[in-house]
Amino acid sequence: MRKLLLLPLLATLPLAALAQGNLDWAYPKTPPAEPHDSVALKQVPGSTRKYTQAQIDDPFNPPDWFPNEHPPMPTSVARGTKPAARACAQCHLPTGDGHPESSSLAGLPVNYIARQMDAFKNGDRTGVRAAVMILIAKAWSDADIRAAAEYYAALKPTPGFNKVIEADRVMATYVGPGGMRFALTDGGIEPIGPRIIVLPDNPERASLRDPKSGFTDFVPRGSIAKGAALAAGANGRFVACTVCHGPTLQGLADVPGITGRPATYMFRQLNDMKTGARKGPGTELMKPIVEKLSQDDMIALAAYLGSRDP
Ligand code: HEC
Ligand code: HEC
Repeated sequence: MRKLLLLPLLATLPLAALAQGNLDWAYPKTPPAEPHDSVALKQVPGSTRKYTQAQIDDPFNPPDWFPNEHPPMPTSVARGTKPAARACAQCHLPTGDGHPESSSLAGLPVNYIARQMDAFKNGDRTGVRAAVMILIAKAWSDADIRAAAEYYAALKPTPGFNKVIEADRVMATYVGPGGMRFALTDGGIEPIGPRIIVLPDNPERASLRDPKSGFTDFVPRGSIAKGAALAAGANGRFVACTVCHGPTLQGLADVPGITGRPATYMFRQLNDMKTGARKGPGTELMKPIVEKLSQDDMIALAAYLGSRDP
């Protein structure tokens, strides 16, 4: 139904979306929530649990499809308290692989996660998609945040959950519930332009928050090789990413890993650090680099990083 309603808008969509500087693809605007079905019980492959869509989208008690496949979740990850202390698992999933409109958290350093929660609270992270995190970070106690940070830091990100494919053209898409992007049925295809278009591999399962249903980032052709050259320092234009993010870019001490993570999230962060929407002591180290990056460079870096194992 939603798809049909959107069709009249489509004629104007591709041009607007491709215009230089329009970053809606990286900062999807979450549409108003729709009424939830609290009757039909849904399932995902391999799980014996059943939830209604209303339960699946409950920010204070999100689904846990595979309770035996992760360590016990602390309260802040599993359950929230109204009005603002939402459970982390709703958006970052019990696995920490997360949805691309949010972020992955699995395997990030404990201190890094805790510092980011401070950054959301103290005004250092004000990016367009940070609004919900600012409310959440303010609502939980330091002890609850620490417990969530320790839980996610101990998890291993799932290789292959995020995949990168180079393409000249992509399916026409729209942003649906929760800020997730979906292909329009019969929407046709359009040039990819200077964008990363991320789609769930299985839209139905992703909507059910199935943590085993991953995502594919479609990126402009040539991005991965270009990103690899930039990551190596672009012939001495700036310091190679490995110097701080580790030899495999999977993280070093308190510096976060940056491979195999959602490419649109990576782009958003580079861009936020460039515009100043993300700042703070850690970000100072990134500044001399992001100042020299164009939007196309950041797309290429995000594509390259996303194409590597987490
Ligand atoms: C309603 C969805 C939602 C919930 C619930 C949520 N987050 Fe987030 N989180 C986001 C979004 C969206 C972003 C990306 C912000 C951006 O792009 O600037 C994010 C980003 C983050 C980041 C930054 C990751 C990085 O690599 O720097 C951390 C840390 C984080 N969240 C921790 C948490 C914790 C801990 C909880 C639970 C206490 C939580 N989040 C609950 C949506 C959510
Ligand atoms: C001089 C050290 C240094 C170098 C070199 C460096 N980074 Fe970083 N980077 C950091 C630090 C420190 C952070 C964490 C910032 C914070 O704490 O807010 C970071 C954060 C990031 C983030 C945000 C991660 C997240 O989870 O939100 C991205 C993306 C990133 N770096 C990409 C890169 C890329 C790409 C390169 C190479 C082109 C690079 N960095 C080179 C130090 C560095």
